[in-house]
Amino acid sequence: MLKKVAILANGGDVAGFNAVIRGIVKTAENNGVECYGFIDGYNGLLKNEYIKLSTAEDGNAEGILPKGGSIIGSSTNANVFNYKVINENGNIEYKDLSDRCVENIKNNGFDCLFTLGGDGTQKSARDFSTKGINVIGVPKTIDNDVACTEITFGYNTAVSVAMEAIDRLHTTGETHHRIMVLEVMGRYAGWIALEAAIAGGADVALIPEIPYDIKRVAEKIINRRKRGKNFSVVVVAEGAKATDGDIIVEGLRDNGKGVDNTKLGGVGPLVAKQLEELTGLEARNTTLGYMQRGGTPTAFDRVLSTKYGTAAMRLAIEGKFGNLVVIKNGRVDYASLEDVVGQNKEIGAVSGNTLESNLRKVTMDDDLVKTARSIGINLGD
Ligand code: F6P
Repeated sequence: MLKKVAILANGGDVAGFNAVIRGIVKTAENNGVECYGFIDGYNGLLKNEYIKLSTAEDGNAEGILPKGGSIIGSSTNANVFNYKVINENGNIEYKDLSDRCVENIKNNGFDCLFTLGGDGTQKSARDFSTKGINVIGVPKTIDNDVACTEITFGYNTAVSVAMEAIDRLHTTGETHHRIMVLEVMGRYAGWIALEAAIAGGADVALIPEIPYDIKRVAEKIINRRKRGKNFSVVVVAEGAKATDGDIIVEGLRDNGKGVDNTKLGGVGPLVAKQLEELTGLEARNTTLGYMQRGGTPTAFDRVLSTKYGTAAMRLAIEGKFGNLVVIKNGRVDYASLEDVVGQNKEIGAVSGNTLESNLRKVTMDDDLVKTARSIGINLGD
């Protein structure tokens, strides 16, 4: 019998975190289960910092459905299996502090831990599951790159924000006869760029999965010009790379050891500069950044997050631990964390992936690729 459960939100924030939390808490309360939330992801689990969550009148998990961010915070640098500590000599050391987390879960009497996060978060969740903890994962990320699910929560909101940006770039680009470049997030996957380009009617979408030839992009823009279209909108995923180049890294993050510490960014300004040189037209770049993560979730993400949260709690009640709730063939389902983390290890060689990561990337037979090509969106090849 499940009595007490805990939630943690981990990794970069997305719109929908709170909607998932609310879904879990409401389902828990309706089944007589108490719900708690660790503060700032795995950091809170390590420090044993948590709060009680409640949707009772004036409860902290009440009225949070439309709220961006996470009421229990989140952490992007808390790999507790390889945690950065400063030793007595003042030097940095990395330690496996996961046993302390296991003790905290056990001593507090938590019967299940819900891990809301992307691939890194779910890898730790899988490792806690191996250590005997009852874990259920919920797939979060604007990048939509978690394996075994068709969609992650937060992604649809990011695409909507990017679509609105494209709409706005269209009107200013048209007025000034410019090439307007929009750099969007997505890490090593092109989902946001591709879907937003289709939704916003962009002319070009450059994604990591298809290395681009800038001359082909310039040709597309010059042809548009010949047809009397004196402006173009180009969407570039931050992880896009030229056929003769590499992914552009803006800097390094301090997310821990054994995880991807690269901060991508800078391809948008480069593409704008090169297109200006090749076409003789004026070009401007806009980097959308954290706008894609903040703010209220779309209706789609509110519903998806509620489906995920409630399904996660139902799965816990059924005792089906060690799984991630997923969407499969359009329906709520679940997949083992082992498959989510471990499948397709061969992609580990791809630039940017850590050996054990298992990112879901855009495949060439995806409907989005076919759709984009059919309506003449140039994919840089
Ligand atoms: O994974 C989500 C994401 O927003 C990526 O799209 C982006 O590359 C990265 O996080 C930015 O991370 P940080 O919050 O560390 O700057």
